[in-house]
Amino acid sequence: MKKLFIVANFKSNKNRSEVEQWMDTFDQFVDQIPEGKTVVIAPPMPSIMFVSNRLLEKRAFLGIQDISPFEAGSFTGAVSAKNLEGFHVGFAIIGHSERREKFHEDDALLEQKVEQAISGKIETIFCVQGKDTPIPPTVRIVAYEPVFAIGSGNPDTPENADEVTKYIKENHNNPFVLYGGSVTPENVHTFTQMEHIDGVLVGGASLDAHKFAAIVRNA
Ligand code: PGA
Repeated sequence: MKKLFIVANFKSNKNRSEVEQWMDTFDQFVDQIPEGKTVVIAPPMPSIMFVSNRLLEKRAFLGIQDISPFEAGSFTGAVSAKNLEGFHVGFAIIGHSERREKFHEDDALLEQKVEQAISGKIETIFCVQGKDTPIPPTVRIVAYEPVFAIGSGNPDTPENADEVTKYIKENHNNPFVLYGGSVTPENVHTFTQMEHIDGVLVGGASLDAHKFAAIVRNA
């Protein structure tokens, strides 16, 4: 059985009590996560302390949705790798199309973010939008996320997603490539059963803890 990554990205949704409720529900499932499935929960930044405490010694890992491209210092509002020390952050999502488009993040900036994550011993989940998206050489986990599929209910076909992930693996140094874009409990297995796809990055369907648990189960 191949190793699978299943990543929940809450984006800018949920206040503290909603994240708490989500964790309360997900707690019923977290101990049932089988060996070989690595589950990552990326809540909004203000909730990471709470989620970090709740995940300690559980079979799921804390992720962050962004990281400062700079070291610690005079960068008002930015959350640096240094700030994250002690929170047991395992993974950072970098290069999401929403950050590229809405926050104008370019390849050079994203590479700096990857460097900062690595300096904090945080594994990067680097999002690419197609075969030609540049990938910093130090990245070990990539997520292929075609823009048309994100939040649209219109996922890529498993065959095309597999073809793109294969291409990425053949042309870069990345041992793991995930698929993201309108993943649901119903379609997740059609992706994870493909030869080259090593997991999924889930937005909308991760906001409901029962649905996300079903995605983890069905993957
Ligand atoms: P979606 O988002 O699951 O809501 O399509 C995926 C993503 O943005 O990573």
